[in-house]
This record gives sequence, structure tokens and C-alpha cells, in this order.
Amino acid sequence: MKIIKDILEMQVMAEESRRSGKKIALVPTMGALHQGHLSLMDYGRTKADLLVVSIFVNPIQFGPKEDFGKYPRDLQGDSLLTAKRGVDIIFSPEAKDFYPDLFQTYVMVEQVTQPLCGAVRPGHFRGVTTVVCKLFHIVKPHLAIFGQKDFQQLIVIQQMAKDLNMDVEVIGRPTVREADGLAMSSRNRYLSPEERVSARSLSWALKEAQVLFRKGERKTEVLLDRVSGLIGREPATRIEYARICHPRTLEDLTVVKDQGVLALAVWVGSTRLIDNCLLEDNQE
Ligand code: PAJ
Repeated sequence: MKIIKDILEMQVMAEESRRSGKKIALVPTMGALHQGHLSLMDYGRTKADLLVVSIFVNPIQFGPKEDFGKYPRDLQGDSLLTAKRGVDIIFSPEAKDFYPDLFQTYVMVEQVTQPLCGAVRPGHFRGVTTVVCKLFHIVKPHLAIFGQKDFQQLIVIQQMAKDLNMDVEVIGRPTVREADGLAMSSRNRYLSPEERVSARSLSWALKEAQVLFRKGERKTEVLLDRVSGLIGREPATRIEYARICHPRTLEDLTVVKDQGVLALAVWVGSTRLIDNCLLEDNQE
């Protein structure tokens, strides 16, 4: 496994791989890797000849009061994990090279970035689409793999790729969870032991909503009341949003006809967690 920091070197390597007929898969990450990230790599390994993982804590997707400074960074630990997963290249550029002085070009997806996280993290998705667009130009992947845990991010990137005719297949993969249901996240390490207990309520509330839905409840208000009740009774939790929306347009639904996505953002102490689940008739 090779670690590449230089942007031009990565571009040349990608170009040569393409010319020799290799299929390239990219898994973009911000590092502090866990099983969720590794599952995306395992999938990529089965689909591509050259598996590239980018590790870059992207400054422009963090708000001024967010955790950019304290976001966990561990390139050494991450490279041990990725080497075991058969990753060919870690691409880990320096921020000063990625966003040099006078950098001024951004990619913005207009509608699906507005609700949910977009409403509470202004500029966040502009940062995400810009970094992912640049990574696509540098790594030149045939396919790029993202987690459904960040459901809105996945939809936003699929929309960007479609609207801008990017020649890359954007694939979403299922959320990997801890044994008690908590969605794996690099931010889980911020939780105190007590907060870690409270954090289980997100996935438990999602499960409960799925049970209600399967029993025939279709009214968003009723489903969300149950979710809010379950999370709200845990110490140290504060719901930022709990919405049920259309899985493509992300518009709010009042009644779920065929399919909806229940999306949550919850503060547990000073850690912000997100999670979601699909509500659909033939859900197991
Ligand atoms: P990061 O939070 O490091 O996540 C990298 C990828 O791993 C994302 O596609 C995310 O959805 C996926 N992921 C995270 N937790 C997961 C889990 N429990 N199960 C499955 N997949 C999971 O998302 C970002 O980085 C950044 O915004 C990025 C796309 C890299 C742009 O900077």
C-alpha cells in the first residue's frame, strides 16, 4: 500500500491506471477509521482493480464553531487498518496544497442541500461537494462509495454527479452499527460513558418507528412523536431535528405512502450524532 500526499502524483497514477484498463474505486473519508469506513473499502475491493481511500479532514465543510480543530487525526493507525483491507493507495493531501491561496471555486447543489443538516450547518454541503468534486478530478474513479449513514450527503453527491455529468457511479452502502445499535462514527469517541448509554436511543427510536410503520402507522406526526419521546427521556439528549422526508427530494412528508426516510440529528452532551432509517412496506 502506498501513501500519496502529492496531488499531481495521485493524478498521474490515476491516469496511468485508467490507461492500462484498471477500474478505480474511491472511498472518501476524513480518517479516524472504523468498521463503517472499512465496510466501504471491502465493497470497493470486490469491484475495482485499484482501491483508493482518501483521508483528508476537509476544513471548508466545518462551520466556525464546529470541531475541525479537535477532529481525530491518526494517519498511522488508519494506514495499518487500510493495509489489512487490501487498499492500494491512501491519498492524504495537505490542506495548503488542496486549497492554495486564491482558491475561489466551489460546487453548490441547490435544493437537496436545504433541509435537514443543510438548515443547521450553513456552508457544510458546499464544502462537501467541493472536496468530493476535486477528489473525483484527482483520483478519477469509476466508482465512488459512500455510507447511507450520511444519507443527505449521499443524495447530494449523487445529485451533483448527475447534474454535472460526472462519469462516476456513486454508490451508497448500509450503515454499520455497534452491537447495541449505535451507528459507528468517528465522533462517538467524544462521548462520555453516560452519554454513550444515552446515544443508544437514536437507533432504538428508529427501530421503534419501523415497527410502528410496519403495523400500519403512516402519519409522520405520530411516528415522530414516538421517536422524540424515546430520545427525549434519555439524559443529556437534545434533538436538533427529527424529520421524515422523501428519499430523493428530501422534502418533508406528512404521510408516508410508499417510502420515507426518517432522519435524526441529536446532540448528546456536546456531541452531535446523526442517524436515519428507511421506512418502507417490505422492510425486514
Ligand atoms: P467521514 O465522516 O469520514 O465518512 C466517510 C464515509 O464513511 C462517508 O461516506 C460516510 O457516510 C461513511 N460512514 C461513516 N460512518 C459509517 C457507518 N457507520 N457505516 C457505513 N458508512 C459509514 O463523510 C465524510 O467523511 C466527509 O464528509 C467526506 C465525504 C469524506 C468529504 O469530506
